[in-house]
Amino acid sequence: MAYHVYFCVLFFATAVHLVQTVPRIVNLSYKQNRDSMTWPGNPSYNFTQLYRGLENNHFAMPEHMGTHIDAPAHTVQGMWKTDQIPIENLYGAGVIINVKSKAATDPDYRVTVDDLLMWEKKYGEMPRRAVAIMNSGWSSKYPNITLVFGSPKPSNESSFHFPSWHEDAVTWLINKRQINAVGVDTPSTDYGMSSTFPCHTILGKNRVVGMENVANLDNVPESGSTIYIPVLNIADGSGGPARVFATYDDEPSKTNAAAMVTCFAIYLYLLAAVLMCNVL
Ligand SMILES: *[C@@H]1O[C@H](CO)[C@@H](O)[C@H](O)[C@H]1NC(C)=O
Ligand SMILES: *[C@@H]1O[C@H](CO)[C@@H](O)[C@H](O)[C@H]1NC(C)=O
Ligand SMILES: *[C@@H]1O[C@H](CO)[C@@H](O)[C@H](O)[C@H]1NC(C)=O
Ligand SMILES: *[C@@H]1O[C@H](CO)[C@@H](O)[C@H](O)[C@H]1NC(C)=O
Ligand SMILES: [Zn+2]
Repeated sequence: MAYHVYFCVLFFATAVHLVQTVPRIVNLSYKQNRDSMTWPGNPSYNFTQLYRGLENNHFAMPEHMGTHIDAPAHTVQGMWKTDQIPIENLYGAGVIINVKSKAATDPDYRVTVDDLLMWEKKYGEMPRRAVAIMNSGWSSKYPNITLVFGSPKPSNESSFHFPSWHEDAVTWLINKRQINAVGVDTPSTDYGMSSTFPCHTILGKNRVVGMENVANLDNVPESGSTIYIPVLNIADGSGGPARVFATYDDEPSKTNAAAMVTCFAIYLYLLAAVLMCNVL
């Protein structure tokens, strides 16, 4: 009897260890520096050294620069400012929509409802309150401003060519899947050619957080991650820089098997305990 219990405990300890595997973490934001992308007309990034020895610097930047969010108030008055966005709306299951091959041949590509249905065919229905991000492959162009804006004249916003979301796809995410946040690896949640910015308006009206210039999307699985959007908590802000990151379990089958083993071990352990009580 005693060695049964001993094996049981050993089994249990090993299984618990396996279940507690540390998740992978992926860095999804660009460094903020002079190269950070921003819309033409915005002031530039200002990083000024104040002291050396005991280091201290001053920095100033537009809210909408580099990897950042658009608060709903960015486009629709009366909606949440940056500091009013509930923390529950700043994370969610990661849904990565890969349109790299389409965007490679069409820089004016917009993610369609069909792209979303194709994702669901592969991975199942999207979790509610997810964070959906387009991966267009644009990160390979950073930080070359000419390539990122798809224009030889990045000061002229009528000349831009970069992919983003179609308003029908954004509407679908809001109405059918109660999305928390919608992001892109390009400079805007509306494509470069847009002059009316319908996706921005739809996101703002529906209190959905936008995310722009998200980095390293190739390193996150298209399904199965959790994405966090820790934005600088700017009072009265319309957006702000965010150190976005994702976590995921890189061996879910191993973890699931370990969880089952743990349950089985607990059962054996209880059984052994009951038997021993009866024997004594
Ligand atoms: C995060 O990714 C960006 C873009 O690839 C890179 O510049 C930066 O060094 C990374 N930061 C860390 C801590 O890995
Ligand atoms: C940058 O910030 C420093 C420190 O506040 C200030 O002295 C300097 O004038 C600023 N530069 C620009 C271009 O705004
Ligand atoms: C940006 O890319 C263009 C086109 O490939 C190239 O001509 C230009 O030199 C690049 N600029 C920088 C700063 O690397
Ligand atoms: C900006 O780009 C558009 C589209 O290429 C062009 O029609 C327009 O003349 C440009 N404006 C300026 C001021 O260069
Ligand atoms: Zn923005």
